[in-house]
Amino acid sequence: MNTKIAPSILSADFARLKEEIEEVEAAGADYIHVDVMDGHYVPNITIGPLVVEAIRPVTNLPLDVHLMIEQPEQYIKAFANAGADILTVHQEACTHLHRTLQLIKNAGVKAGVVINPATPADFIKPVLHQVDLVLLMTVNPGFGGQSFISEVLEKVKRISEWRNEMNLDFEIEVDGGVNAETAAACVNAGANVLVAGSAIFSKENRQQAIQEIRNAY
Ligand code: DX5
Ligand code: ZN
Repeated sequence: MNTKIAPSILSADFARLKEEIEEVEAAGADYIHVDVMDGHYVPNITIGPLVVEAIRPVTNLPLDVHLMIEQPEQYIKAFANAGADILTVHQEACTHLHRTLQLIKNAGVKAGVVINPATPADFIKPVLHQVDLVLLMTVNPGFGGQSFISEVLEKVKRISEWRNEMNLDFEIEVDGGVNAETAAACVNAGANVLVAGSAIFSKENRQQAIQEIRNAY
């Protein structure tokens, strides 16, 4: 699978969101990663469907929407209608995970499932056949700019092995603390989508920032 870079706009300048997205698209980004936080599932509040709708016409790239919210099933329709291409829900936030993933598929959007660093990979094994993407958090969700938790790489490997054994073709994404130092280990473990927030948006030259990550694997 081709390795993809998904800049997380959490670290972008929100007053210039359009320009920031255009800049990373021109710099070769593959997805735009959108972090949705509700102040309950994670201790931070960010953006909702209105912002997704506002940025939809700004880019041709798929909008990879990471829902860090409680009861995500209540908001699937809203985010799908707003223009999300991939909707990723936390296993820990879904009482009926299978049903929520089905809801995403029924909304005509790609379905992703995500687990936190301390959640065992086994918890999502029963739904792997249902998903287009598995996201492994490499930090505890809530904020940009945290340090990479390398223990998660074991889970990346395991899930990539299961994908082979089960003959499935979902993407494996990592999110949190991914930069030119940590990218190679992620790719070697089996990840093919690298989310990077601060590693891209804290740099003046986004093209160079993305290239530095690509050069690292
Ligand atoms: C964390 C978010 C991440 C975050 C990554 O809760 O899900 O997408 O923006 O930021 P960096 O790359 O700075 O760790
Ligand atoms: Zn994220």
